[in-house]
Amino acid sequence: MRAKPNHVFYVLLIFLCYSHRSEAQLPSTQGYTCTANQTTTPQPCQTYVFYRAMAPDFLDLASIADLFSVSRLMISKPSNISSPSAPLVPNQPLFVPITCSCNSVNSSMSISYANLSYTIKPADTFYEVSTTHFQNLTTYQSVGVVNPTLVATNLTIGVNVVFPIFCKCPNSTQLQNGVNHLVSYVVQPSDNLSTVASRFGIQTQSIIDVNGNNTRTWDTIFVPVTQLPELTQPTVVPSSSTPEDDDRKGVVTGLAIGLGITGFLLILVFGFWVYREGSLKKRIIMAGDEEKQRSKMNKEVKGNKGLMGMEVSLMADVSDCLDKYRVFGIDELQEATDGFSDSCLIQGSVYKGRIDKEVYAIKKMNWNACEELKILQKVNHGNLVKLEGFCIDSLQANCYLVYEYVDNGSLYSWLHENENEKLSWKTRLRIAIDVANGLQYIHEHTRPRVVHKDIKSSNILLDTNMRARIANFGLAKSGCNAITMHIVGTQGYIAPEYLADGVVSTKMDVFSFGVVLLELISGELAIDEDGNALWASAGKVLEGNDEDKARKLKNWVDKAFFGESCSMETLMNVMTVAVSCVHRDPSKRPNMVDIVYALCKSEDLFHDISDDALSDPAVMGR
Ligand SMILES: *[C@@H]1O[C@H](CO)[C@@H](O)[C@H](O)[C@H]1NC(C)=O
Ligand SMILES: *[C@@H]1O[C@H](CO)[C@@H](O)[C@H](O)[C@H]1NC(C)=O
Ligand SMILES: *[C@@H]1O[C@H](CO)[C@@H](O)[C@H](O)[C@H]1NC(C)=O
Ligand SMILES: *[C@@H]1O[C@H](CO)[C@@H](O)[C@H](O)[C@H]1NC(C)=O
Ligand SMILES: *[C@@H]1O[C@H](CO)[C@@H](O)[C@H](O)[C@H]1NC(C)=O
Ligand SMILES: *[C@@H]1O[C@H](CO)[C@@H](O)[C@H](O)[C@H]1NC(C)=O
Ligand SMILES: *[C@@H]1O[C@H](CO)[C@@H](O)[C@H](O)[C@H]1NC(C)=O
Ligand SMILES: *[C@@H]1O[C@H](CO)[C@@H](O)[C@H](O)[C@H]1NC(C)=O
Ligand SMILES: *[C@@H]1O[C@H](CO)[C@@H](O)[C@H](O)[C@H]1NC(C)=O
Repeated sequence: MRAKPNHVFYVLLIFLCYSHRSEAQLPSTQGYTCTANQTTTPQPCQTYVFYRAMAPDFLDLASIADLFSVSRLMISKPSNISSPSAPLVPNQPLFVPITCSCNSVNSSMSISYANLSYTIKPADTFYEVSTTHFQNLTTYQSVGVVNPTLVATNLTIGVNVVFPIFCKCPNSTQLQNGVNHLVSYVVQPSDNLSTVASRFGIQTQSIIDVNGNNTRTWDTIFVPVTQLPELTQPTVVPSSSTPEDDDRKGVVTGLAIGLGITGFLLILVFGFWVYREGSLKKRIIMAGDEEKQRSKMNKEVKGNKGLMGMEVSLMADVSDCLDKYRVFGIDELQEATDGFSDSCLIQGSVYKGRIDKEVYAIKKMNWNACEELKILQKVNHGNLVKLEGFCIDSLQANCYLVYEYVDNGSLYSWLHENENEKLSWKTRLRIAIDVANGLQYIHEHTRPRVVHKDIKSSNILLDTNMRARIANFGLAKSGCNAITMHIVGTQGYIAPEYLADGVVSTKMDVFSFGVVLLELISGELAIDEDGNALWASAGKVLEGNDEDKARKLKNWVDKAFFGESCSMETLMNVMTVAVSCVHRDPSKRPNMVDIVYALCKSEDLFHDISDDALSDPAVMGR
């Protein structure tokens, strides 16, 4: 809070500088004006920004891809980087694709930009994010113009802000002259136009034709090119790392980052706690006899943490979520679930409850289990169950998580408890892809990475449209402990290396996902009454020649498919994916990116055959 006046002063100072300069050239500070005329300038267009990898947060393609809402592959390809998981070095040049269009901001002004949504985190300002994360590819003034409803000095953490990344689409004359892209490039202090031109392999004059001749440092200029120049990438220390090492590295950095953040949070929170101590005390006294509560809580909390320790950790855990989630009162939850009565129980410690006409799933957990809250606040994806709010009952040392209610129950009950209505193969394939997408997200797009650790059909929920969401992050780990002593999970789904050595990596989720795939294909339980694991016998199906395989697979798949027009080829493809997922050696298992790709291909194949396709499947199948 105390830093604010300084900051305002700084922004004011910069504003003064800008307004002084604005006489020289019409300000590009609010954005580059455009006219939305499809005949002269076809829009929107695909173009690129020139981005420099940057320590500490943007030294890997995953985080840059997240920032720009693209996939890693979409950056690695145009940037001449062989592998999407390659580490980057500071200042490494990259081409990041964006979609550019002309957007009107009011009746008299349109500006050309790629709209990128960014979620405000603590200490973010328009200025800070524009100049650091987005490397001056936009300006705080322009952010203000395209987000008229937001007050720059009073940003709420968790709010989504559109950052308009400056860009231009080539007009018809330029297209005729072979200019296919106008690449957005921020002029650096060490640049002059001729060095920029030679970097892109074009004439200096071409840049001047588009941008005029008085460009300044930190301006975004548009470099006209026929095709992107091939970037010469610095040779990164050749690492003989297997994907496993890679995961470990992620875990270790994750740990470091996690510790950093936690430390910072703790300091912050401790300060906050000291400040709030008075009012907290008051509340506790109000709640009853202070001394009684104190001894009661001490009894509830395991170990030697006292009341204060618990309050501090309590606040540390939730301080980040206070703005993002609804905080429910314990009374509200009591009322919604009829005092947590059995009639509202869904399963385990999850209750169904109605609050203000909305139905929620309410999970009761003891205080130490709030890891899930910490993980869920970091993730947000359509294939993960959404957290809506939480409640802390400090008297009972309980914590409640309140989720969206997913209507159609678990995949487990659809596969194994519902005899009357069998899921079609098409639906199952769709579910598999949904789950794979959710896992890809937590493995690739969270920092530090999250490993779910308990993927199984009963933790996969289906909504009204039978689309799948992953639930129950109760065992999930973010980065921490590469090795755990305390083995948790579910028989039949646990990866062998985790059982044997406690190795936690994303590959253990891949294994469990493979078991879910096998369940989907066979309709069988992951572990039968005699304790035989489904995965142990799956490999045999793919042994022998093609004829043998087809015969064995036919025996193995769910008989419910026989009435459907589903091809042996897609079944075989998905079976192959499943078997590779449950490989004993984690390094031989594919990662979720490959799995999503393979499953989507199978789905395409399936559609070509099952739909009344006009096209020739042989052509479509490529
Ligand atoms: C777009 O440009 C063409 C050619 O200059 C012009 O004839 C047409 O009127 C313009 N359309 C609009 C909507 O401004
Ligand atoms: C349109 O927005 C720009 C930038 O905010 C402003 O300078 C201009 O006055 C606005 N025009 C109208 C008519 O509101
Ligand atoms: C951003 O772009 C998307 C798709 O291009 C569009 O649907 C959305 O309305 C845009 N948002 C704003 C604020 O311009
Ligand atoms: C962006 O511009 C500001 C000056 O306006 C400069 O201090 C900062 O270093 C620039 N950011 C990057 C990443 O180049
Ligand atoms: C800041 O925003 C919040 C809600 O978005 C509002 O309640 C509060 O009054 C605002 N504060 C100021 C100083 O504008
Ligand atoms: C641009 O910079 C290069 C090297 O930094 C220098 O040799 C060249 O003369 C400069 N050109 C202009 C027009 O300033
Ligand atoms: C296309 O852009 C160039 C450079 O900005 C300009 O000289 C030319 O007149 C434009 N052509 C059309 C058809 O707008
Ligand atoms: C820059 O352009 C203006 C007109 O566009 C011209 O008068 C001036 O001489 C140019 N300056 C240089 C250094 O080329
Ligand atoms: C592309 O990258 C490779 C190595 O990463 C390099 O050897 C090659 O020269 C690059 N291509 C160009 C045209 O710079």
